[in-house]
Amino acid sequence: MRTVRFGIIGCGMMGREFASAAARWLHLPEMTVRPEIVAICNRTLSAPKIAWFRENVPTIEQVTSDYRKLLDNPKVEAVYIAVPHNLHEEFYVAALAAGKHLMGEKPFGIDRKASDAILAAVRKHPECFVRCASQFMFFPAVQRIGRMIEAGAFGRIIEVNAGFLHCSDLNPQKPINWKRMVEYNGVYGSMGDLGSHACTVPLRAGWVPRNVRAVLSNIVRQRPDGQSGMAPCETWDNAALLCETEDPASGSVFPLTLRIERIAPGEKNNWYVEIMGTKASVKYSLKETNTLRLLEYAPGGEQSWQRIDTGHEVTFPSITAGISQFGLCDAILQMWAAFLYELETAATPVRFAGCVTPEESALWHRLFTAALESQATGTTVSLAKDTRIRDKVKRGQAH
Ligand SMILES: NC(=O)c1ccc[n+]([C@@H]2O[C@H](COP(=O)([O-])OP(=O)(O)OC[C@H]3O[C@@H](n4cnc5c(N)ncnc54)[C@H](O)[C@@H]3O)[C@@H](O)[C@H]2O)c1
Repeated sequence: MRTVRFGIIGCGMMGREFASAAARWLHLPEMTVRPEIVAICNRTLSAPKIAWFRENVPTIEQVTSDYRKLLDNPKVEAVYIAVPHNLHEEFYVAALAAGKHLMGEKPFGIDRKASDAILAAVRKHPECFVRCASQFMFFPAVQRIGRMIEAGAFGRIIEVNAGFLHCSDLNPQKPINWKRMVEYNGVYGSMGDLGSHACTVPLRAGWVPRNVRAVLSNIVRQRPDGQSGMAPCETWDNAALLCETEDPASGSVFPLTLRIERIAPGEKNNWYVEIMGTKASVKYSLKETNTLRLLEYAPGGEQSWQRIDTGHEVTFPSITAGISQFGLCDAILQMWAAFLYELETAATPVRFAGCVTPEESALWHRLFTAALESQATGTTVSLAKDTRIRDKVKRGQAH
């Protein structure tokens, strides 16, 4: 079993999720490579979460508040960086310059300029393996949808709807945090925070938008600042994007609708994807995590939706029985298995069992930048034609 020694930069919610996944590696009996966390970095070291790391991860040798010290550590081969968006460019570029493999968090740069700088660094350092975290592709139903896309099972694509819906911001008393501040989260608002997840399946399928008409809403314009005052909340809460999109397999053009909402009443954490095709259609939503709705159609036949229990049918075999339910922590574990598998073998078992590539992240930056322009001008905006990136994503090339 090869061991890859990791440093975590940013020990918040996602940093802890990785530590938990790494501690559960024995769940994946067929993996020939495993992560070991040897260093952590966080802005403040007094926080209870740092004590949590010290107590629960005995392999940690270095604890620092300076990310440069962690990157200077020769024992660290790979880093997981999960920090606010305003730090992505600086930290990711520095990690690559230090020769570390990188799992970065979305949106992989606070804006298009940061994304371009990160992509340039990725190209400058082909010796480093670089991916972006997004776990939703690893739910069994989504893996199955991916296999259907690869097999051309949908026929001609009629339309695709994808989105990520949250509801807790409906509460105007929810205090503001960095994800609702332009300075830290970026001008994309909810698109930068939730939108990248909505894009994962369409982009992996090679469905690259040609243009976008966006309607963005800022619904709650101030929030409690946590110190008995109010602070302006200037980020976009909700985004509705309608994109003319091409299917490279058939050459047909279809509407792709993306709904990215922090204020979607009743939707706690609902990532969803729907694909309508002339031969088959699917609907999947995290509201029913283990259910895939499928309609298969032959000319003149019945049009009948089936509900399929998907169970624990994972791409990277696990000790959990196949009939069991699957959840978020399982998806995160599968995502990390995909990262390490690809780092080790330079391949993915199937197209949809690989983490998001830097090129895919560059495309969502082009989409969200065009969406901002569409909102500002009230017009449909063409996506910048960066054929090198677009063609790579359409062909599903990882490297
Ligand atoms: N994949 C997902 O589903 C998912 C979910 C939530 C967040 N995220 C992404 O993960 C990243 C982090 O989000 P989070 O929810 O974990 O945030 P968080 O606020 O819980 O954690 C961020 C951590 O970064 C630390 N930090 C801030 N500045 C730092 C610095 N200069 N040096 C070192 N550490 C520093 C903070 O102290 C904090 O512990 C973001 O990019 C976010 O978009 C991804």
